[in-house]
Amino acid sequence: MSTSDGLSDIDKKHGDPRVLANLRTMRHSTPHWALWACLIWLSLSVVSAISFDLDAKDVSTEVSIEARGTKPFMLRIMPLGASITQGYKSADGNGYRKWLRQQLRYAGWEVDMVGSRKTGSMRDNNHEGHVGFRIDQVAKVAKKTLPQKPNLILINAGTNDGLQDYKVDTAGERMDSLLTELYDAVPGTTIILSTLIPNGKKPVLVSEISQQYRDLVAKRRAQNDSLVLAEMSTFIKSTQLVDGIHPTADGYEEMAAVWWAAIQEAENEGLLKSPTSTSTNNGTISKSREKALDDSTADLDLPAYTAPAQPTGSSYGIRQAGQVDCLFLTMQVVLCSSVFALLA
Ligand SMILES: *[C@@H]1O[C@H](CO)[C@@H](O)[C@H](O)[C@H]1NC(C)=O
Ligand SMILES: *[C@@H]1O[C@H](CO)[C@@H](O)[C@H](O)[C@H]1NC(C)=O
Repeated sequence: MSTSDGLSDIDKKHGDPRVLANLRTMRHSTPHWALWACLIWLSLSVVSAISFDLDAKDVSTEVSIEARGTKPFMLRIMPLGASITQGYKSADGNGYRKWLRQQLRYAGWEVDMVGSRKTGSMRDNNHEGHVGFRIDQVAKVAKKTLPQKPNLILINAGTNDGLQDYKVDTAGERMDSLLTELYDAVPGTTIILSTLIPNGKKPVLVSEISQQYRDLVAKRRAQNDSLVLAEMSTFIKSTQLVDGIHPTADGYEEMAAVWWAAIQEAENEGLLKSPTSTSTNNGTISKSREKALDDSTADLDLPAYTAPAQPTGSSYGIRQAGQVDCLFLTMQVVLCSSVFALLA
């Protein structure tokens, strides 16, 4: 995907033609091997930075929906959790779900949301989100939807355990049991576990639960589980809450951006797998079914935010990928220039 002016902007930022021209004029007075090594190193970095920037730009600058049905299989997605999964207090009742679905469709995924509940104005509005439910209650109700064999499960649960001060020190263990139940019921499924968004009522308990989830995901990823962390706790701010618990419209939209970043991580790692057939769904979506599930593409509703790349098993710090890449490139340019200056 490209934008009409995207490349020139990036050229200006990362591959200033004047720098390259200067390098070329030094060529005659510099040993060839050093010149070529530096140029190749720099070019490779510029190419990777350009592809990173174009990916990051997808969400915020594209205005037409084009790439659809280009992915190898459908995503049968189960949004699982409590009121935030339902989209409680959002004006259209969709919460993060519609933003995310539109983004996935735009990126070419066939999508069918599954769950025993249907709320919100979006067409494909199934989910398994229940107001006020704790982890143990979410685990029980999840069983309703598991026979539909979702190949992607998005979990945001545990806020109510914090709010009710319910066995907070074992939240991670209880989530661990839930994950085992989900993997047992749907072998091969991919799970994205969200850390909890900031909470105005029980901030300390809620952030303790988030830390237990980070540890849990790190432990399970070391065992090669098909699991990715969605780091919501730092991307959504406590000022983006309507009642100290539920996100504002912007907050829900940002949640969608984090899920999307986590799903891309799962895709890049090759974790996503084709859904298994059920009695009602053989893993394909007919054109008429697709039409019935899709919301209008005239009003695209893609999230206007780009979440940073989600943490992977080896690094659980919060990494602002774009900043790190730019810094690295600048260092390379300075280093290369110094080499030439010394040799010239
Ligand atoms: C996880 O996968 C890697 C790479 O395939 C492998 O080297 C490692 O032994 C696996 N770990 C476990 C616990 O299965
Ligand atoms: C799945 O079912 C649809 C009709 O519901 C059919 O058109 C399609 O060929 C089937 N696909 C496979 C792979 O069996």
